[in-house]
Amino acid sequence: MKTQVVIIGAGPAGLLLGHLLRAEGVDCIIVERASADYVLGRIRAGVLERTTTDLLERLGIDERLRSEGLLEDGFCLADGERLIRIDTFGLTGKHVTVYGQTEVTRDLMDAAPGRALEVIYEAEDVAIHAIDSDAPFVSFSKDGSERRIDARFIAGCDGYHGPSRRSIPASAAREFERVYPFGWLGILADVPPCHDELIYANHTRGFALASMRSMARSRYYIDVPLTDRVEEWSDERLWDELAIRLGPEVAAHITRGPAIEKSIAPLRSYVFEPMHHRSLFLAGDAAHIVPPTGAKGLNLAASDVAYLSAALIGYFQRGENDGIAGYSATALARVWKSERFSWSLTNLMHRFPDDGPFERRMQLAELDYIASSRAAQTAIAENYVGLPL
Ligand code: APR
Ligand code: PHB
Repeated sequence: MKTQVVIIGAGPAGLLLGHLLRAEGVDCIIVERASADYVLGRIRAGVLERTTTDLLERLGIDERLRSEGLLEDGFCLADGERLIRIDTFGLTGKHVTVYGQTEVTRDLMDAAPGRALEVIYEAEDVAIHAIDSDAPFVSFSKDGSERRIDARFIAGCDGYHGPSRRSIPASAAREFERVYPFGWLGILADVPPCHDELIYANHTRGFALASMRSMARSRYYIDVPLTDRVEEWSDERLWDELAIRLGPEVAAHITRGPAIEKSIAPLRSYVFEPMHHRSLFLAGDAAHIVPPTGAKGLNLAASDVAYLSAALIGYFQRGENDGIAGYSATALARVWKSERFSWSLTNLMHRFPDDGPFERRMQLAELDYIASSRAAQTAIAENYVGLPL
């Protein structure tokens, strides 16, 4: 088999890249290790930047997003006593859209057959070869037979645990990492949200986030020590803790219900440089991880593939090399800014085990400054809605 670009991974990054390339007539095939159902079973964040929704609109894969997505004008920070509203629309003229990442993946998956985007699911032993040459290829086995796809380029969209990044020699790469000393315990429940906008709270007992998927489905998180296990957190204990951390005013509007999903996820900031080596490109979680504070993960995957698709289309349609040569630097410039925003919002809104009274006062002073300064709110708002491509 031969194509122009083999994409490894059918998460949001791989599927979106595949659609962007196919829309401009570039040939590509996606090779995914898991089944479609497995990919759709993963629950992740649900806030889309305008940059991301614009891409889906450009592709015409936005029908459900437009009918079911919730356009949000703002969000709140809470300091244990009050809500500080960030009027993102008033300050930037842009909304974010609350729409589950799983739903984005489903929409991209459903649109693939009609757009001649081939996705090979349940590919085993996916391996990358000859990235130092102009004729790289990917091998895997499927239904017991060995398969090989030759291409001009390989796009590694295989997430944090995928093989693509590891095929770049260590001598050509650099890694940057911060691991946070807590995890997020999340609960999904079919109950109406407690507030019509997201609330990120920093209470003396720790972090809490009130989010939603729809007007009938809520998503909440608290931070917990990494040693905690989900089984230690009954639904009741978690609702009690959320009510305390979100404060009495918000708690009065919380509707409790049984968890339809409950899990603990670690928090990490990670960047791999460069995002391009010879015939291999990296995009999305394959190259970087952000902590979920600010919900930048999927949005960064989308901006990466916006840059990468433009570079590959320029190469195949017009013989241009500049886009490809500049991809890593261009994508990383935006990646680092989102890393900075997620890291700073994480630092502002969480209690770190080593923090003392001084650090707490610093956080409260910063929140107080944000509450009183339009400039500070604008800086947060423009990062939250997404920096321009
Ligand atoms: N071969 C083929 N596919 C693989 C392999 C492999 N060896 N290893 C991993 N994959 C697949 C995974 O099964 C997954 O479907 O690559 C896909 C990577 O998808 P994500 O992890 O979702 O990463 P990405 O598409 O970059 O999405 C980034 O979405 O997943 C969230 O938290 C993530 O918000 C972030 C954004
Ligand atoms: C979510 O709804 O799951 C969510 C929202 C905002 C975040 C992280 C997760 O920052």
